[in-house]
Amino acid sequence: MKKKISKNLVQFIFLTIFLILLTGCSISSTALNSNKKEFKIAHVTQETHIWHQASVKFGEELEKLSEGRFTVNLYPSSQLGQEKDYMLLLETGALDAAILTNGYMSTREESLNAWFLPFTFPTIEEAIAMTETEESQALLETLNKQGVKGLGFIFAGNRHILLSDDFVHSPDDLDGKKVRILGSPIMQMFWEHLGAGPTAMPLSEVYTALQTGVIDGMDIDLDALMTEKYYETADHLTITNHMTFPALFVISKRVYNELSKTDQAIVDEAAKRAIAWANEETIKRETETLKKLKDVGVNVTEIEDFSPFLDAKEHVINTYTKKNELIKRFVEKANQLRGEKVEYNKGT
Ligand code: BEZ
Repeated sequence: MKKKISKNLVQFIFLTIFLILLTGCSISSTALNSNKKEFKIAHVTQETHIWHQASVKFGEELEKLSEGRFTVNLYPSSQLGQEKDYMLLLETGALDAAILTNGYMSTREESLNAWFLPFTFPTIEEAIAMTETEESQALLETLNKQGVKGLGFIFAGNRHILLSDDFVHSPDDLDGKKVRILGSPIMQMFWEHLGAGPTAMPLSEVYTALQTGVIDGMDIDLDALMTEKYYETADHLTITNHMTFPALFVISKRVYNELSKTDQAIVDEAAKRAIAWANEETIKRETETLKKLKDVGVNVTEIEDFSPFLDAKEHVINTYTKKNELIKRFVEKANQLRGEKVEYNKGT
């Protein structure tokens, strides 16, 4: 334990020094000309992933709106470590902004599990529409107490099931299958309830785990499936839309608070435009990527009857709506947007 703490501390100190050295020039030029700034942005995905492209778009908009005063420097593919490291760097302002998976952030803020309530967003369009609601904004605001300001949610698409050798038509097909999930209690609960053997691991370990048979498959979005090429080892894809998968686009509060009101408005607007662009792109990609996956030989099927999965859905939703009022309000709103009125845990 002691060893782990000191290893994390050393890693953190190293990363902080690295970023300060790397940006030494921009810090001194900021001091000379307080209007200029380079925003360092980190995330865990490849450069082909929509989250990276959204950060490129953010940089373009920022440069345009600030008339060249603001630029970005991007650190994709976990170059600056894991997401827990980003949070430490964001708190101190050594990192300016990041795109953080809702998977990781939901382990720090319970209400963010609202996005992972199973079978709540059958299409990515419905998940994106939910971001416009007060209930969704309330989730973003919970980030304030963690030293970051939420600029918005960016989706990587809905999650589906990829297995090495079979499709999934009912939970029976998952019996005993080792399915890679993100390290998230709600995902663990859902997959255990389905009868699978959920195995938490970071994305960077999944390719080898599939190759070596440590896992039989995974729950994954289409974009990551394409960009990480998991289909080279596992080629049975069942389109389930069982969960949606947003990331949080955040900026260090320390950095944000040092900006003038005008510059804060520029950051907000650039983020709004980048997110709007990314959302449209994600909707397009859901269809295009599925076609590309079929073209490279992935076998695809869709679930026609969801009723065998409803027990797991209800179990997870009942548990989490009881635990957290923001989650309860969120799912009731999501149902309302779909024209359904369902009140959870009334009178409990
Ligand atoms: C994952 O861990 O499954 C994941 C992380 C980032 C983007 C897409 C997928």
